[in-house]
Amino acid sequence: MNHRNPQLNKNGELQHLLTIEGLPRGIVTGILDRAKPFTEVAEGAAKKLPLLRGKSVFNLFFENSTRTRTTFEIAAKRLSADVINLNITTSSSSKGETLLDTVDNLAAMQADMFIVRHASSGAPHLIAQHLAATGRNHISVVNAGDGRHSHPTQGLLDMYTIRHYKKDFSQLTVAIIGDIMHSRVARSQIHALSILGVPEIRVIAPKTLLPGGVERLGVRVFHDIHEGLRGVDVVMTLRLQNERMQGALLPSPQEFFKSYGLTADKLVLAKPDAIVLHPGPMNRGVEIDSAVADGSQAVILPQVTFGIAVRMAVMSMLAGK
Ligand code: CP
Repeated sequence: MNHRNPQLNKNGELQHLLTIEGLPRGIVTGILDRAKPFTEVAEGAAKKLPLLRGKSVFNLFFENSTRTRTTFEIAAKRLSADVINLNITTSSSSKGETLLDTVDNLAAMQADMFIVRHASSGAPHLIAQHLAATGRNHISVVNAGDGRHSHPTQGLLDMYTIRHYKKDFSQLTVAIIGDIMHSRVARSQIHALSILGVPEIRVIAPKTLLPGGVERLGVRVFHDIHEGLRGVDVVMTLRLQNERMQGALLPSPQEFFKSYGLTADKLVLAKPDAIVLHPGPMNRGVEIDSAVADGSQAVILPQVTFGIAVRMAVMSMLAGK
């Protein structure tokens, strides 16, 4: 483990994927480039590859998931890995076993990779540190979303989607709308866009849904969605993370939709060829209107398919293949 950047080994190669923050640009573009040929496998047009044959990938999802858990499983299987999905509700963590004791037991079952989602920010980092401290550096950890901190593969698949449709990051204006405060996805997107050289990153949200000092991340803040959407190339919408909100930060979901929901009449302010992304799960009629979610500018379902290719790229890179 490299102490300056715990996700890189001493040769500067990716050993764990814990966050996009601080990743060298070469690693980010390396993952996107590596994902491109995997897109055919992700789309089912090409066969399985043997890159993870003999490896055991453990999915440890301590929080609900549809897209991330399933696409990690598909990605690992298309790379020929053995995949073990730990059922958290019936696992010993519900009997009081600590996270690290669970990890030690799974490591004793010859795990090669842990894919971890946890409600506590820093849980995947803690596991990676524990593995290093106990001499098990050969096991990789991939953060599949931790608290409000980071969701690196989501950020990477969003970048892959943008590059697929827009080709070049260097001229883009990108707007992220909604609950920036509680969103690990927004943080990962902002870090990734900034590493890839996007010149203008906008966040559009009410004051109550913006973290203090968000400008320090290099974003322009807009409270008026009409101003914020003007002339943008890419619009990224976010779900209200009600499970992480303390107290009432909004009058109501209906009020939020009125002011910040992405509707067709607001989207016309963006460039005519602007694309619309959403990480899912979507709340129609809260952050996005069905006419936009199902409209010709939405690339929300391609994001999911690209997610398989990006996760194949990350896992094969971690396995040194
Ligand atoms: N985008 C995302 O993380 O979705 P899931 O919660 O379904 O995995």
